[in-house]
Amino acid sequence: MLERPRRNRRHAKIRGLSQETQLSAAHLILPLFVHESETPHPITSMPGHARLGLEGIARLAGEALELGLAGVALFPAIADSLKDPLGQESANPDGLLQRTVRLLKARFPELLVVTDVALDPYSSDGHDGVLVDGRIDNELTLPILAKMAVNQARAGADVVAPSDMMDGRVGVIRQALDDAGFSETAICSYSVKYASAFYGPFRQALDSTPRSGDKKTYQMNPANVREALREIRLDAAEGADWLMVKPGLPYADVIRFVRENSDLPVAAYHVSGEYSMLRAAAEKGFIDYDACLLESLLCLRRAGADVIFTYGALDAARLLRNGSH
Ligand code: PBG
Repeated sequence: MLERPRRNRRHAKIRGLSQETQLSAAHLILPLFVHESETPHPITSMPGHARLGLEGIARLAGEALELGLAGVALFPAIADSLKDPLGQESANPDGLLQRTVRLLKARFPELLVVTDVALDPYSSDGHDGVLVDGRIDNELTLPILAKMAVNQARAGADVVAPSDMMDGRVGVIRQALDDAGFSETAICSYSVKYASAFYGPFRQALDSTPRSGDKKTYQMNPANVREALREIRLDAAEGADWLMVKPGLPYADVIRFVRENSDLPVAAYHVSGEYSMLRAAAEKGFIDYDACLLESLLCLRRAGADVIFTYGALDAARLLRNGSH
């Protein structure tokens, strides 16, 4: 036989040499949920994750740095009493998120801190934009997002990540950051974010399920991929530094498509539902969590992701350090 593909698989070192894609901790970003209390509040829908206080977050951030992760992405769970229709708490310079960012940047300056720009954690309506007569008002939302991003940059965020899917937000955020002197703060745009049911556990984690309606008038239709081209073209033109596709694995074709249609770094978000499915199936003894996690993340890399946001980042980094790949 002239061709024997198995020859390149016969030995671990040979397999290593012919491996086309690498996964390492340096590609990973760990999302974390912060709340006011130092008592952890376990998130039932996301085994292994809890809302943590500032010190709890700092402890995990220290581990993240030590294990070689690229950074952490912070999501605040704030008291209902601080929520209003305009999400005004997002502009508070001493808000929960801002204090957390300051603490992390003081303790671990080398760790990237990514912050989410969207109204939902702050909105009494649970939507990413301002709700007016049952509609999300794009124009009313933009200045609030811009202010939120500047407030996060001022606290020390390295990367602000608009996840709200309002039209034109990357442009107004870039302008506001530059005007306020934060020209070095990067923008990771959730450019291609689908209206996905895989966000369910996350919304439980933050208690941010929309009080009415759904997010289909701003997040993308899961049936579409051509539309992704339009979103990434606009975001790149408006000044995005990274383009994100979200969710991850069910949208691997979209990640590949974005990779091939842009010269910007591509991020993939291995979302809460994807993570929790692995955990739940493993709890039942149906699959091996460790192996399926590493495989999922490797597949996201193969699809074209440079950066991966995953709740399994610490687990994966430990496994990679111990040589299980
Ligand atoms: C909201 C936001 C969501 C996620 C990140 N930012 C949820 C949503 O759009 O409803 C989802 C993350 C996940 O499911 O892990 N701005």
